[in-house]
This record gives sequence, C-alpha cells and structure tokens, in this order.
Amino acid sequence: MGIAGKSVVLGVSGGIAAYKSAELVRALVKLGAKVRVLMTRNATEFITPLTLQTLSGNPVGTSLFDLTQESEIGHINLADSADVILVAPATANVVAKMAHGMADDLLTTVLLATRAPIVVAPAMNVHMFENVAVQENLTKIRERGVIVVEPAVGSLACGYEGPGRLPEPGVLLAEAARAISTQDLKGEKVVVSAGPNRESLDPVRFISNRSTGRMGYALARAAWIRGADVELISGPTTLETPHGVTRTDVTTAEQTRRAVLSAFKKATVLLMAAAVADYRPKVAALQKLKKTDRPRRLELVRTADILGELPARRGKRIVVGFAAETNDMVENATRKLTDKRLDLVVANDVSRSDAGFEVDTNAVTLVDANGEEPLKLASKDEIADSVLDRVVRLRRSKS
Ligand code: CTP
Repeated sequence: MGIAGKSVVLGVSGGIAAYKSAELVRALVKLGAKVRVLMTRNATEFITPLTLQTLSGNPVGTSLFDLTQESEIGHINLADSADVILVAPATANVVAKMAHGMADDLLTTVLLATRAPIVVAPAMNVHMFENVAVQENLTKIRERGVIVVEPAVGSLACGYEGPGRLPEPGVLLAEAARAISTQDLKGEKVVVSAGPNRESLDPVRFISNRSTGRMGYALARAAWIRGADVELISGPTTLETPHGVTRTDVTTAEQTRRAVLSAFKKATVLLMAAAVADYRPKVAALQKLKKTDRPRRLELVRTADILGELPARRGKRIVVGFAAETNDMVENATRKLTDKRLDLVVANDVSRSDAGFEVDTNAVTLVDANGEEPLKLASKDEIADSVLDRVVRLRRSKS
C-alpha cells in the first residue's frame, strides 16, 4: 500500500518553505503518484508555477477564475478525483481559512469541496505557530478529521529556533500514504527486528554480515502506514528511522535477544528480519590485537537462538521468521517453520544478485502451514506489503 498510482493534490501556500515543495513533488512523482499542484497567489511569490508544473508533469492550478484552468481541470473535478490532499507548507492564513470554512481561492475551495483525506503540514515562524489563534485553528481542523503533521523543530528561515520547519519529504509522504491506506493493522503492536549484528574481536575489529536492514525497515515503514504501532529493533545501519516508528538500537546478538524478548511481551506481531549473528568470538580482547607472523585462530561460540527462546505460549501473537538461504530454500524454510514454531517464514534466496543483501529488490517465497507461495521479484517496499497482507490473513484465521 502506498501512494503509487494514487492522485495526490498538493496544495502549496505562501511561506518560505514553499521552495521545498519542488523536492516533495519530485519524491511523489518518483513513487508513481499522479500529482496536481495547486498554489495560492502568495506561494507564487516564493516559487514559480513553471517549476512545479515541470516537475509534476501536470498543469499547476493557481486561480479559481482562470477560464482555461477551470475548463481544463475544474475545481470540483480536482476535489473529486483526489485520493488525498496534502497542504505543504500550510501557512497560518490557510489554516485559519480551513478552520472557518472559507473558500476564497482555488486551494481553499478544493479543500472545502473534497471528500478525500486531507493532510496539513503547517510551517511558519515559531511565535506564529505557538500563537493561540493558530493552535485553536489547528485543534479545530484536527477535530474535523484533518491530519495535522507536527512541524519539525530546528533553526527557522526567519532566524528563530523551535517548531515551525516543514518536515522532510519522507515524513509527509508517509503521512499521506497512511491517510489513504486501509488501516488493516490498526490495534496491532508490531515489533520488527532488522539489520546485522556486530560481534567484537577487539576495540577496533568485529565480525558481522552483509545485511543492510532495508527489508526490516521497509516492513516497519509499511506496518506504520497500515495503522500499526511499530517498534523497530535495529542493528547498525545507515538507514533513517521510518516516520512514526519507535527505534531501539542494538549491536550484538545478545543485545538483540534482550530487546526482542522484552518487546515481545507487549507485541501482537513479531517480524524477525534481523540477520542475527549465530556466533561470536569466544573472547573479545580489551586491547587491540597486534599482528604477528603466525596464523591466528579465532574461536567462536554460539549465540542464543532468539526465536527458539520465545515463550511457548504465544496466544494470538503472530511470529514471522526470515530464512536467508543459498540452497534448498523451501526445504530449509519449512524446517525452520516447524522447529521454531513460526506462523510464517519469509524465505530468501540470497545467492541471487537481484535479491537479498545490499539491493533494493527481493525475491522471496512465503512458507506457512498451508504451503509455499513464491512472490515475484519486487522492491523491498512491495515485498513488505505482501508479507503484511499475509500477516493480516493469518490474523483473521487466528481470531
Ligand atoms: N534468528 C534468531 N536467533 C539467532 C539467529 C537467527 O532468532 N541466533 C532468527 C532470524 O532473525 C531469522 C530466523 O531466525 O528470522 C532464521 O535465521 P537464519 O540465520 O536464516 O537461520 P538459522 O536458524 O540461524 O539457521 P541456519 O544458520 O542453519 O540457516
């Protein structure tokens, strides 16, 4: 689920953050959304319609009374065809008009006429944002079902520090995606483990594996978009925490074990995508190991099997394991399904160059008690949604 193929109306109003809408349009188009941009007159003082028209590939609406615009697009048609309307940045003025049901330009008219979900990202000077009038207006539109994205905190273009910055495109895209996605994981507390472990040899060296965490992060992002409350237990990665997700950082297999066992107590779904280290060096030297001319032997000891340690009584919890295999994928996955008492195994052929570690695509086979289902090669975001579709089906059969 997400915004690929959806009609997104982006309303841009006249604050300095309007310049950031160019990046937002790019990001929406890249994700496959059909983007129609509507600008207030003041927004056109900050960024030109031509820029947003070029980036969106569609005419930009600026006026309710432009005969060509109205005959070609039409404000009611825009309001009806939108799957979601995102107002970013939203000025205090636009928020006030929304709160009072005013419709004196194209954007505010479309906002009144639409039945689509509306996501509003206020961005302004911190004193304006904290002004009681603005806060009351925001409360009012929130109570009517508008999703208000909190502004980011930081240094503002006006020289002040505080809340008022337009959030990063990733945040706005996630909010828009959540607004239009079926909330079929609402009420679920999903714990996702992701990424590699590092097991120290000495203060400067470690053993690890090739996991980047991308599959686990895609699962966490998708689960939040589908309404879940998500906790991500992450090994060392370079990835940004998905919006809305609570993240706990771990390094070793033992830290992962403790974090997962603790989070599992409150979880309703566990997605164990982490590439947990199966071994660690028997001794981690306190000082850097110096080289010698003789070969060095490394003694490794087993780490605990985290899935194997989960309590036997799992109630309605759904537990999903991941199996990274280079051969006999389905046989190995089926064995893990039984041995680890899992509801589902996502088996991954990591010998392929277009699947598994360090690539954005994945080819997996879902293995559960009813058999196996190979999924076709797709992006990790799409695979994440297919895995969650299966989780939703498993939930229905358990309830
Ligand atoms: N896993 C775990 N604890 C470990 C190692 C792995 O809970 N110490 C979890 C992984 O997160 C994954 C599943 O077990 O969800 C399967 O991991 P994998 O490494 O593919 O399989 P193993 O059980 O370790 O078996 P093998 O190494 O023989 O393939």
